[in-house]
Amino acid sequence: MTLQIESDVPLRALNTFGVAATARRLVRVRTERDVRRIVDHPELGRMPKLVLGGGSNLLLTGDVDALVVKVEIAGRRVLEDDARSTLIEVGAGESWHELVAWTLEQGYPGLENLALIPGTAGAAPVQNIGAYGMELADRLESVDVVDFVTGRCATLPAAHCRLAYRDSVFKHELAGKSLITAIRLRLPRPWVPVTGYADVERWLQREQIGDPTPRDVFDAVCAIRRGKLPDPQALGNAGSFFKNPVVNRTIRNEILADHPDIVSYPLPDGTYKLAAAWMIAACGWKGRTLGAAGVHEQQPLVLVNRGGASGADVLELAHAVQESVQRKFGLRLEIEPLVV
Ligand code: EPU
Repeated sequence: MTLQIESDVPLRALNTFGVAATARRLVRVRTERDVRRIVDHPELGRMPKLVLGGGSNLLLTGDVDALVVKVEIAGRRVLEDDARSTLIEVGAGESWHELVAWTLEQGYPGLENLALIPGTAGAAPVQNIGAYGMELADRLESVDVVDFVTGRCATLPAAHCRLAYRDSVFKHELAGKSLITAIRLRLPRPWVPVTGYADVERWLQREQIGDPTPRDVFDAVCAIRRGKLPDPQALGNAGSFFKNPVVNRTIRNEILADHPDIVSYPLPDGTYKLAAAWMIAACGWKGRTLGAAGVHEQQPLVLVNRGGASGADVLELAHAVQESVQRKFGLRLEIEPLVV
């Protein structure tokens, strides 16, 4: 089968911010071999590439000249299942949330804290998705990639992916250089619930659940997310738009002296994660709108498209928020999604 090259493709429906942009050229890949066909193609092989999964961690600020490679590689299978763990292999194009639901239905718990995260399985390692006390790094075994220059396939063990808070090698050295075709996840046995996150604990208490099942944790996470994060189908967004700043004790104490109410969490290495949502709210941005872009009412870390916003509108709002936070707290918030 030859590659179907699509030209001048509207991207509005392919990014969860719902901003308008056009891809000059787009190809869909369904197999590893499709990726190698791109590499071997006389014209496409030489073009810069933008890999697109669910478009849920992306802000498009204009038309895209790079070749858009839409990943649609399917497949979910259990590779190993024994008393100590289950190893699952997933095609990069699979929906992450459907994967989480499927593992639960199959009796393989261990991903439930990551329920309802939009996007694809292949994108999960790129930003090391995380929520409610768990991150992909806790479960990732390995990642299959194809090199965009050589067409060579390789399996990267998780330790080589340099996963960190919303970060990985795929955002740095390997950005635009390779495509993730599959990931493998190891789910440990026996299952131990991860319920330390305050919101999850509170939800379980309210429901009077003392000894939660995997399904209870899944339900808790889904309910909490639905309560505070806007559904991209209803209101365009890309989840948290900024990372929570991580600072050392000295900086945290300096900020605390001026802002005693600031919300912060100690990390195991002695640093502190400051709640960016709190800082943005403290700057008066909560629920505010600039042009057609806005700061979400329930979760100020999320920027939203109130209807017809362009990527440039969202970025302008982001810069205004960054400037306010910098002025008040002396810290520059880092933008989390990929801005193109
Ligand atoms: N907060 C405020 N004011 C608000 C809202 C929140 O002060 O209006 C404070 C809360 O008191 C809370 C803190 O902000 O203590 C954190 O809120 P939340 O639990 O929602 O977490 P977050 O730091 O805002 C992070 C992730 C989310 C993830 C949640 C849950 C980042 C960049 N974001 O958000 O991930 O779902 O924790 O674990 O780390 C994403 O990456 O797109 C994303 C949604």
